[in-house]
Amino acid sequence: MGDEAGWIDVCDLDRLKAETIVRVAGRDLLVIWNEGNVVACERACPHEQADLALGQVTAGRLNCPRHAASFDLRDGAITAGWPSRPLRLYPVRIMDERIWIELQERQPGR
Ligand code: FES
Repeated sequence: MGDEAGWIDVCDLDRLKAETIVRVAGRDLLVIWNEGNVVACERACPHEQADLALGQVTAGRLNCPRHAASFDLRDGAITAGWPSRPLRLYPVRIMDERIWIELQERQPGR
């Protein structure tokens, strides 16, 4: 575990590949295996805070377990027509087959 604003070590890449969605210990964040990429995002749905750790990943989108909205895992965009902000995404790094995420919201284009 690192500092509040630094990088934190989450889990092995193999574990994420096996489980698809892994909770980040001690933080309300998730890492997701999506079409060969690792994505880090917040755990609470921006709509009504459903637990997205219980959601499903299909065709590049994270589907909320409570309502019909889903989020594009490339940029966090919510399904058209839903009155909520996008899902927050966080920078990811893979080092020695371990996944690290930065505790700072990803800026567009990073
Ligand atoms: S709580 Fe996730 S779409 Fe409503």
